[in-house]
Amino acid sequence: MWKTPVLIVNFKLYASGVGESALKLARILDKIHQEREISVVVAVNPLDAYRIKKEVSIPVILQHADAVDFGAHTGRINVDLAKEYNLDGLLINHSERTLKIEDIDFLIQKSKELDLISVVCANNFRVAGALAFLEPNFIAMEPPELIGGDISVSTARPEAIVETIEAVKSVRSIPVLVGAGIKNGEDVKKAIELGAEGVLVASGVVKAKDPERVVNDLVDGMM
Ligand code: G3P
Repeated sequence: MWKTPVLIVNFKLYASGVGESALKLARILDKIHQEREISVVVAVNPLDAYRIKKEVSIPVILQHADAVDFGAHTGRINVDLAKEYNLDGLLINHSERTLKIEDIDFLIQKSKELDLISVVCANNFRVAGALAFLEPNFIAMEPPELIGGDISVSTARPEAIVETIEAVKSVRSIPVLVGAGIKNGEDVKKAIELGAEGVLVASGVVKAKDPERVVNDLVDGMM
C-alpha cells in the first residue's frame, strides 16, 4: 500500500501527457517525491507505462484495464499484462472510462490476486459506499461536472467529500481520495482537512506551463 496522503497525477490523453512529455513529467514528479518525501503516483497511457516504469522510482499505474483474462481479445489490455510489465496498479471506473459493476469487481479481485493496487473511482457518495463492498485499496470520488474545470471539489462540494468518507467508512476502512478541479495547495489542504487521504489531479499539472511549481504547491497542501 502507498503511504498517505498520496498525490495521484492522471496524465489522461493530453498531448502534454504522452510520449516524451510524459516521461519528462514523470521525472519531475519523481524528483519532487524524493525531495519532499511525499507519496506521488502517476496514471499513464498504456503505451508509455513500460518505459516510464523503467525510468522512475514512483508507482506507475494504468488509467484503465479491461476485465478479461489472457486470450482471444483484440485491442485490450488486462491486469495480468500490467503485472507482467511490473506496473504498480490501476485506476478503475474513471468517469471518462466507466465500467459495469461486474467488471469493476473482476478488476479489483484480479488486482488483489496479482498484488497490484486498485484505485476505484466513484462519481458520488452513494456509488463510493457501494464500491466499498468490493474492497479496493482506494476509493476516489470525483464529481464529473467539476473534472477539468477551475473550481475544485474542495471548494464547490466540500459536503460531498464528507458524505463520501462517511459512506465508505460505514462499510469498510478504505482510504478515500478526491479529485476534480484541484489546482493548488489550498484545494489539497481543504480536502485533507475534510478527511481525504489524498487527491487526484490531471489538468492542473499536465497542462501547466510550469508543472514543477504547481506540484510543489500541491505538495505544500499535503504537509
Ligand atoms: O483523475 C483525475 C481527474 O479526473 C481530475 O481531473 O483535470 O479536474 O484535475 P482534473
